[in-house]
Amino acid sequence: MRRRRDWHNAGMPPERLPRVLSGAQPTADSYHLGNYFGAFRQWAALQDDFEAFYFIPDLHAITVEYDPVVLRERTYIAAAQMIAAGVDPARSALFVQSHVPEHTQLAWVLGGVTGFGEASRMTQFKDKSQKSGADSSSVGLFTYPILMAADILIYQADRVPVGEDQRQHVELTRNLAQRFNHRFGETFTVPEAHIVKATAKIYDLQDPTAKMSGSAATHAGVVDLTDTRNQAMKKVRSAVTDSGAEVHFDPVVKPGISNLLSIYSALTDRTVESIEKEYEGLQYGHFKVALGDLVADFVGTFGDRTRELLDDRGELDRILADGAEKARAVASVTLELVYERSGFVRHV
Ligand code: TRP
Repeated sequence: MRRRRDWHNAGMPPERLPRVLSGAQPTADSYHLGNYFGAFRQWAALQDDFEAFYFIPDLHAITVEYDPVVLRERTYIAAAQMIAAGVDPARSALFVQSHVPEHTQLAWVLGGVTGFGEASRMTQFKDKSQKSGADSSSVGLFTYPILMAADILIYQADRVPVGEDQRQHVELTRNLAQRFNHRFGETFTVPEAHIVKATAKIYDLQDPTAKMSGSAATHAGVVDLTDTRNQAMKKVRSAVTDSGAEVHFDPVVKPGISNLLSIYSALTDRTVESIEKEYEGLQYGHFKVALGDLVADFVGTFGDRTRELLDDRGELDRILADGAEKARAVASVTLELVYERSGFVRHV
């Protein structure tokens, strides 16, 4: 039996479903098949058992050089693709981070309990700042994990589905929550990361040892969710395969064909073994043609739905406004509690 959702109950138990929260940066012109299987499909499934908060972290996107016009468009595309992927705005709060000012308000408070050394140990910052040179990195890039902690804690989230690369940020979030609770009294739910299973991991079709990534130099091996049916089909048909001829799952010896098997399995919800059986004695070519058609169908339908949503910006704006309203109803309660615990004079 499912309990009724109550958006106004930010104070912890008893009468609520556990909460799930996640976000995906709008840093490319489209999400790709790897994002779909690695994240969005889980997000959609989790809506059944959790009160869900999903958002587009536009505030995080401005911590590196960017173009405002492009950011705005990408934010709309991100929202449309999340809905096309099954995030249901009627059941979940789907919103844009900058529409909920409580995120940044809480981030400032959390900054006061974050150690400089602690923040300096974040490996994503070290990687990213090394690429652009530490001097040209923004302060925003440095404090990014504190904002991420605020994103999570402001909703008292229980579960945070993220990729392995974000595990350390969720760990920091847990530490900050515990520290704040310890110093100022029980305030935050200590969240748990929900790391995506390895089988849901999709690799680049041209370099199956690298994760499928929107920032790849070429998109020849990246199936974008905005690809046409034909583009998607061609990318799959020209995926690199391994020596040998057998359609067999072995990520070490046959990373190429194994990746294609994972995609096939993810798209059809069939086991890898049953697919291997079906293609026993057949050439890679047969398999790739069949998979190309499956991927083309999926991406084609997905793209149609996304375009429909993008063609009605008014409706998309309304959906996002409604999501922000649901989110703020919860976020404002947490912020008030935090301000009270922090010793601020109440604004009457
Ligand atoms: N940092 C995450 C990423 O790059 C995006 C993100 C921002 C996020 N805030 C979050 C993810 C809160 C989960 C929870 O993928």
